[in-house]
Amino acid sequence: MMGSRLVLLIAVLVLLSIDYSFAQSAEIARTPPMGWNSWNLFACKVSDAVVRAQADAMASNGMKDAGYAYINVDDCWQGTRDAQGNIRGNEKFPDMKALVDYIHSKGLKAGIYSSPGPKTCAGYEGSYQHEGQDAQQYAKWGFDYLKYDWCSAETVYKNSDMPAVYKKMSDALRATGRSIVFSLCQYGLTSVWTWGAQAGGNLWRTSDDIQPNYNSILALGFGQNAGLERFAGPGHWNDPDMLEVGNGKLTADENKLHMSLWAMLAAPLLAGNDLAHMNPEVLSVLTNREVLAIDQDPLGEQGHRVWQDGPIDVWVKPLGDGSKAVGIFNKGGPQDPVTVQFRTLAVGKFAEVRDLWTGKDLGRLENSITTEVPAHGVTLLRMR
Ligand code: GLA
Repeated sequence: MMGSRLVLLIAVLVLLSIDYSFAQSAEIARTPPMGWNSWNLFACKVSDAVVRAQADAMASNGMKDAGYAYINVDDCWQGTRDAQGNIRGNEKFPDMKALVDYIHSKGLKAGIYSSPGPKTCAGYEGSYQHEGQDAQQYAKWGFDYLKYDWCSAETVYKNSDMPAVYKKMSDALRATGRSIVFSLCQYGLTSVWTWGAQAGGNLWRTSDDIQPNYNSILALGFGQNAGLERFAGPGHWNDPDMLEVGNGKLTADENKLHMSLWAMLAAPLLAGNDLAHMNPEVLSVLTNREVLAIDQDPLGEQGHRVWQDGPIDVWVKPLGDGSKAVGIFNKGGPQDPVTVQFRTLAVGKFAEVRDLWTGKDLGRLENSITTEVPAHGVTLLRMR
C-alpha cells in the first residue's frame, strides 16, 4: 500500500516537472491574432489619446464584431525606470494601467512592445537585464500581448543566442500567470520559423519591415513567406508583418490583394491604419467576413502557391470543412481572362464556387474556372 502511494507520488512529481511551455504557448493564438498596431502609420507619434481613439473605433465600427481583438502599442511608449528599475511610460503615456483598463472596458485586449536589447529600434528603453521585472510589470498593467523586437540586442548578443533570449522572455511572461501572446520580431533571421515555437513564440516575423506600397506587399507576401507553410499552425504563425491596408497610396484592388494574400498565408491581421479616420472602402476590406474566415480557419494551414505564369499567381489554402480557398492574383497590369484547371487546385471534376469579394455564388462549375482578375488585383474563391 505504502509502495503504490510512493509510486503515485513520484508519478505526480514527474508530471509537474515536465516543461509544458510549448503546449501552454500553443493554447493562445489558436488562430492568427487579429487587431491593430500603432507602428505602420503613427510610428513615434503614438500617444495614449491615439490608442484610445483606435479602441473606440474598433469597438464600434464592426471590426470587433468581425474578430479583431488586440489594440497594440508599438515602440515609443517607454519612459525611464524608477529607482527600483520598474519601467514607466513616457509623457505621452502617463498611466499605462488606465490605458489598458480603458481598452479592456471596450471588450478588447491590449498589446505592448519591447526589445531584448538595451534600447528599442527607436532608441527607447529596452528590457535587457530587466526581463522578469518587465514581464511582471506588463502583467500588472494587464497587457495581453508582447511584441519583442531584436533591435539593439545585436550589440549584446550573437545571432545564435536568439532562441535562448526569446525563451527567456517567454518564460518570464508565463511566470506572470497571465495569458500573453508572444510576438517574435527579428526580421526572419536565423530561420526563426524553425525554432520560434519552441522559444515560446505565437508568431514570428519572417522578413524586414513592410512599407505602405504595392512592391513591398508583393515582396513580403509572395516572396519571403512562400514555402514556409509547414511551420505555421494553431498557436504559432509566420508573420509577414502588419497590414498596410488603407495606408499610403494603395488602390482599392491593391488593398484587396494585400488582404487576400495575408488571409491565404494564415497571417496575423494587425491593421496598421488610422481606424478612427478611414473610408468605408477600407473598412469593408478589413471586415469582409468571408475573407477573414479564410485567415481564421480552424485548421490553421498556411496556403501555398500551386501555379505561376508571368504576373499570375494561384494559391490554395485547405480549410477545416474540406473546402478550399483559392486566390488568383494578378501582380501586373490588365490581362486577358485567366483560366485555372481544377486539377491544378486538386479539387474534383465539379466544384461549388463562391467569389468572396463580390459575395456571389458562381454555381457548380466543371473542370475549370475562368475569371477576369483586375490589374494589381485578385479573385478570391471558396470551392467545395
Ligand atoms: C522595427 C520593427 C517594426 C517596428 C519598429 C519600431 O523596425 O520591425 O515593426 O516595431 O522596429 O521601432
